[in-house]
Amino acid sequence: MKILGIESSCDETAASVVENGTEILSNEVASQIDIHTKYGGVVPEVASRAHLEAVYPVIYEAVHKAGVTWDEISAVTVSYGPGLAGSLLVGVSAAKAVAYASGKPLVGINHMEGHIYANWLSGDIPEFPLICLTVSGGHTDLILMTGHGKYKMLGSTRDDAAGEAFDKVARLLGLGYPGGPVIDREAQKGTPCISLPHAVMDDPYSFSFSGIKTHLYRMCENELPASIPDICASFQKSVVDTLVEKTVHAAREYNAKTIILSGGVAANSGLRETIKKESPVRVCMPPRGLCTDNAAMVASAGYFRFINGSRSDLDLDIVPNLVLC
Ligand code: KG4
Ligand code: ZN
Repeated sequence: MKILGIESSCDETAASVVENGTEILSNEVASQIDIHTKYGGVVPEVASRAHLEAVYPVIYEAVHKAGVTWDEISAVTVSYGPGLAGSLLVGVSAAKAVAYASGKPLVGINHMEGHIYANWLSGDIPEFPLICLTVSGGHTDLILMTGHGKYKMLGSTRDDAAGEAFDKVARLLGLGYPGGPVIDREAQKGTPCISLPHAVMDDPYSFSFSGIKTHLYRMCENELPASIPDICASFQKSVVDTLVEKTVHAAREYNAKTIILSGGVAANSGLRETIKKESPVRVCMPPRGLCTDNAAMVASAGYFRFINGSRSDLDLDIVPNLVLC
């Protein structure tokens, strides 16, 4: 069964055709990173205008490159939240138009569920029950997943999301936007020689990253305490150690069969290496390129929702603060 996925929740306009939730037939992404870099972050109004220009060509390319006809597509799935309102509106409106014109069912997907389902696209299928660490620009969540679409939130961040902390520290160091990939690259050239505080929380699954960030701001106020690679390596290690420790703790506590990673920060090389080393159970993670926003993940999540009977009406609306569980 072939599903068309459409994604436009932040600054990537994407469309993809995925077969049976696991096999990517096409995966088109029009990135706006070059447009937003000069502002040091995503400008919502600029993002929605760029989505408008890209959305139909990207959908056309995805269907064309998959080598399928509209008749072979079983459903149109789209992220309807969480995300930037203007950005979401473009993808949802395009998906509704395409579904109506082709007579296909429409399925609205939570963008964060999409990130989770990127794990079904690597050939290494996760086993339930599993612990999912979702780490993106807006989220840091530890989730227990007991079956398709069955989630229990164990804990999340009390302040900054992990990706947000990477982006803010990169801005502090003048490394540009998005910060995660640059810090990751710099960290590989350095050693974690600065000791940074770990937030002490009153429950085992909550996170806090604003303390590390503020500590670094203070340390760097007059002059840098170490080289850029060493600061990046120290910051990254501190974030990764916290993420891994809590994830492994949850996996033990809930007798998980698998740990999975999702969201943009799941592309981080330190996180990928450390979790594999420390985990008592099998670890699955999406290929790096599928960690950040894409539509293949939306089509995969859409497939599992669709075969379980989920359908959206053509009055599907965006929900910018949509929660998963
Ligand atoms: O999931 P995503 O593409 O968008 C959201 O839904 O937020 O995540 C984007 C976030 C950004 O904060 C970016 O800096 C971070 O993921 N990121 C990384 C890496 N690649 C992207 N953070 C750390 N290391 C990376 N290699
Ligand atoms: Zn995302």
